[in-house]
Amino acid sequence: MTDRVLIIDFGSQVTQLIARRVRESGVYCEIHPFNQVTTGSIADFGAKAVILSGGPASVTHADTPRPPDGLFDMGLPVLGICYGQMTMVEQLGGQVESADHREFGRAYVDVIDDCELFHGVWEKGAREQVWMSHGDRVIRPSNGFRAVAVSQGAPFAAIADDERRHYGLMFHPEVVHTPHGAQLLKNFTHRVAGCTGDWTMAGFKEVEIAKVRQQVGDGRVICGLSGGVDSSVVAALLHEAIGDQLTCVFVDTGLMRADEGDQVAEVFRGHYNIPLVHRDASDLFLSKLEGVSDPERKRKIIGATFIDVFEEEAKKAGGADFLAQGTLYPDVIESVSFTGGPSVTIKSHHNVGGLPERMNMKLVEPLRELFKDEVRVLGLELGLPARMVGRHPFPGPGLAIRIPGAITAEKVAILRQVDTLYLEEIRAAGLYDAIWQAFAVLLPVQTVGVMGDARTYDHVCALRAVTSTDGMTADYYHFDHHFLSRVSGRIINEVKGINRVVYDITSKPPGTIEWE
Ligand code: XMP
Repeated sequence: MTDRVLIIDFGSQVTQLIARRVRESGVYCEIHPFNQVTTGSIADFGAKAVILSGGPASVTHADTPRPPDGLFDMGLPVLGICYGQMTMVEQLGGQVESADHREFGRAYVDVIDDCELFHGVWEKGAREQVWMSHGDRVIRPSNGFRAVAVSQGAPFAAIADDERRHYGLMFHPEVVHTPHGAQLLKNFTHRVAGCTGDWTMAGFKEVEIAKVRQQVGDGRVICGLSGGVDSSVVAALLHEAIGDQLTCVFVDTGLMRADEGDQVAEVFRGHYNIPLVHRDASDLFLSKLEGVSDPERKRKIIGATFIDVFEEEAKKAGGADFLAQGTLYPDVIESVSFTGGPSVTIKSHHNVGGLPERMNMKLVEPLRELFKDEVRVLGLELGLPARMVGRHPFPGPGLAIRIPGAITAEKVAILRQVDTLYLEEIRAAGLYDAIWQAFAVLLPVQTVGVMGDARTYDHVCALRAVTSTDGMTADYYHFDHHFLSRVSGRIINEVKGINRVVYDITSKPPGTIEWE
């Protein structure tokens, strides 16, 4: 079996990044919330090492989250990061205090001793950049630990107990602002824990295919294809696993990007020879959306209509025992809530939730353990075209949530034209892969312009482009002004109905990526 590392989550905003770094070093890992971990579950998981994440709590308060005490007697290597370090020290008999001096953001540590974690990157006597985010600090580590790095605010910025293979870091090695952080984590998993780093996407693919075959048996599976990366990869994987037991359904909502349906048909019907049902339901969707301006209502209507149409088509195709979905790991990881209350719904995301119960189907979710970038690698491994695998995310409700106000077929057509032109220019400038997502929004605002010698009174469109790693936070993309002028000039000249272009420079938070 490949080596496995368990990450115990205490609710840090960046826990997922620990998992990404560990996987990037070729080691399979999973994140489990602290309140679901016992020594038994750690043993069952087959952990070769355990990493304790950071978190917002303070170990100096009563009733704060802890890993099971027995973890430290299991003989496993343990790395505690930030809160993880503090709870480890405290549980092992050391002392932590709330510091007056909070360290947040970029900081420097002085390396005062050699350490296995630092192998190949940090030398004794060096000063190294790290990223800190803590209020508490260790003032007396438990027996067996020695300090190996110090910072201005933390006398025990890094500690090591080589004999028990326990290590603690006050700073976050998982974020890019700790430039050698990935290597420190790799040293922990490879040098300290002895993981071999043999986890690859080719291996994952084989394991997943075997799992799907076992789960599905000779049942029939139905998969909703949207033209997006996730559903495409699911379809390609299932096809390889179960061949003709898979039927794919593409519902054209009339709110897709240009040529979306044709591209899906070309790849899946043409290239893979997968049975594909292509249903043009654009009139139905547009009629249901007529006169609707409220963003949440739009989403709900689209979600419900999608389910109706999908269900109809699935029945026509002979029904199915399983529904395949492109659920990803970030959707699966239960976020640790300290308040116990539900988190606020900012937008209700549309997927095929509700269908399995209605149609009495079981779910097949072969991407449940992957991050978005890993899904892309898997897609390439399965032979999907790079252009399809590298596509920007596209929301289920499609162009509907990029047309604030009521939607009409005419507005959708205008927006689709702008979108195509904008992305064409982005590709031509070689910027497509540097941007997480780029799109246009058609505003319900008309402004006065002059074209030739005539007055115009047309729509404004906003362009949006963001960088992000997971869609949770984002910054606007800093285009060169010449690029923006060129795109704006082309849009106004070539797209009838638009006479003004603006560029959205809002980050997320406080904005969201989509406008609705
Ligand atoms: P927001 O606008 O919430 O978007 O910052 C974050 C990411 O999610 C995508 N998005 C959706 N994806 N169904 C989807 O499948 C939806 O309803 C939906 N709404 C937003 C958005 O495009 C961005 O990538």
